[in-house]
Amino acid sequence: MNRNELIRALPKAELHVHIEGTFEPELMFAIAQRNQIDIPYKSVEEVKQAYNFHNLQSFLDIYYAGANVLVHEQDFYDLAWAYFEKCAEDNVVHTEMFFDPQTHTDRGIEFVTVINGLQRACDDAQEKLGISSKLIMCFLRHLSEEAAFQTLEQALPYKDQIIGVGLDSSEVGHPPAKFERVFAKAREAGFLVVAHAGEEGPAEYVWEALDLLKVNRIDHGVRSEEDPKLMQRLIAEKMPLTVCPLSNLKLCVVDDMAQHNIHRLLKQGVHVTVNSDDPSYFGGYMNDNFFAIAEALDLNNDELKQLAKNSFDASFISDEEKQKWNNQIDALV
Ligand code: HPA
Ligand code: ZN
Repeated sequence: MNRNELIRALPKAELHVHIEGTFEPELMFAIAQRNQIDIPYKSVEEVKQAYNFHNLQSFLDIYYAGANVLVHEQDFYDLAWAYFEKCAEDNVVHTEMFFDPQTHTDRGIEFVTVINGLQRACDDAQEKLGISSKLIMCFLRHLSEEAAFQTLEQALPYKDQIIGVGLDSSEVGHPPAKFERVFAKAREAGFLVVAHAGEEGPAEYVWEALDLLKVNRIDHGVRSEEDPKLMQRLIAEKMPLTVCPLSNLKLCVVDDMAQHNIHRLLKQGVHVTVNSDDPSYFGGYMNDNFFAIAEALDLNNDELKQLAKNSFDASFISDEEKQKWNNQIDALV
């Protein structure tokens, strides 16, 4: 088996994917048309030309605009189902998907519409594709603490369908500390917690996510490398980082994939995983992320297997399920 064949054959878990970021232009056009909503593009080519981001904010502006065409439960179902089909192609057997309720509720879409559409796709994915999944609800950090509290309140009736809460959107200027009280309440209510930190923001934000939000995983976290004490802590606590290589390249967090630090982090013993973040916008799904780092950083088969094992180990599935996937990975030659 050559390297790319191994990547395809490895069972993998995805732990950092925004469902709104899987919205492919073709589906966006189809849903815009059936909902009779105008989008500022004439063709799929025009949409792709608009995807020339140079930082997180220039991406987020386009990402939120795209999500505006999602109105009905079926729209959310179709969005998630299309992503599950990509998972099946890439041998992603388990996924923990982010969704941004505020992006929809702020436009007058009911929380229940979003959750019902996503949940039905998750149920079908299990039944028809054998893919397991969990939902993580993210607070938009550019909005207020008060708005996050309201969103948490809205989520409580659906507590059984949402494994955890996260924190996304514009990082710099919106440190984890802003959401310390909301996260405390979420943990009290029984949610697991994760947060984007150290993508564009400094290592200090990773400390805050650990100490103030008490996260179970750090999303991105690549800037942790700038702080040796933080690196020691991540290694000692086996704290997972959900790294998104193609995203980092597209948003200029790194200049060149050959300079990406995921290989250095792995070799130092940080619990890194590979993820696609917003695959429709950043040029590829799970396997494309693996292919890109394997090539640019010359990863060997043991390292690729370790990354796949890390993805299950850092996930919110049971220990028995973790063991099962671990054994399957070990059995691959
Ligand atoms: N960072 C912050 N917010 C986001 C991202 C991201 O990579 N993707 C979608 N929302
Ligand atoms: Zn993200």
